[in-house]
Amino acid sequence: MRIRILGAAAGGGLPQWNCRCPNCLAARAGSPDVPPLTQSSLAVSGEGASWFLLNVSPDIRKQIQDSPALSGDVADGVRGTGIAGCVMTDAEIDHTTGLLLLREGCTFPIYAPALIRDWLHEYYPIGPILSHFAERPWRELALDAEIELCDAEGRGSGLFIRAFDLDPHPPRFTAGHEGSLEGSVVGLEIRDAATGGKMVYAPGVEKIAPALERATEGADAIYLDGTFWTERELIDLGLSEQTATEIGHMWVAGEGGSLEWIGGLDVRHRTYVHINNTNPMLNRAGAECAEVEARGVSVGRDGDEIEI
Ligand code: MLT
Ligand code: MN
Ligand code: ZN
Repeated sequence: MRIRILGAAAGGGLPQWNCRCPNCLAARAGSPDVPPLTQSSLAVSGEGASWFLLNVSPDIRKQIQDSPALSGDVADGVRGTGIAGCVMTDAEIDHTTGLLLLREGCTFPIYAPALIRDWLHEYYPIGPILSHFAERPWRELALDAEIELCDAEGRGSGLFIRAFDLDPHPPRFTAGHEGSLEGSVVGLEIRDAATGGKMVYAPGVEKIAPALERATEGADAIYLDGTFWTERELIDLGLSEQTATEIGHMWVAGEGGSLEWIGGLDVRHRTYVHINNTNPMLNRAGAECAEVEARGVSVGRDGDEIEI
């Protein structure tokens, strides 16, 4: 399986349009230590020709431009794509808005847990809007059931996926939703039947839950939520009154942070993604980035690719 980071930043990207935090200022000024990053998404492929997007960010156009394989094969006609399908891990704007930007035809399925699909039909009606432009069959990703990722024609990819529930965290725009929050934020485990390679993707993690620990057993790669360096990052910058965990993202550094956990995991490729522009580890010359790398963990970059 090939795994490519299309975008390593959290919502807003780096630099974010209205932000003057140290990282955004440095990225805007062209500092080689703080390269710009697009918003949160990965792409995976079994054979390397057809790809499944894991979340579809508002930066998808640039991400496709920077990833030639996603444009497909010119031999297949004037219009075509290397995208065989998409998978949603939550309904947040940064993870879903790109679906609207891929409206100019072609046909590919959107895999999502039922609650995420419903929210994307009701509160943020991407589903109904898209249906006027292109065929986007929605396929349910039932929790804890492994299925094969298939293209629109039902051709298998050799990649088998299982979604597992993480801590519930509804997007702000679903205010008024009543009832269960099961499947509001999920992690993904994807296994390549041909190579036996297994990856885990969890860009929205409030705490290290048993389901996440179980998923990493025998994994070759993990892409973990690296949104905030500290629990009070946005409060200390005067940008929010909420802690990291209140926003749905566990912090990285120090006691009880995710680095303690991921740094000790027996997984060959360990990478932080969904990194907020305020996170100091995004400065590649800084002590925070060095601390992460000293634990054998990478701070994700756009275009990073591995094969497992
Ligand atoms: C999140 O990751 O918590 C959301 O994308 C936040 C947002 O941008 O609304
Ligand atoms: Mn986000
Ligand atoms: Zn910023």
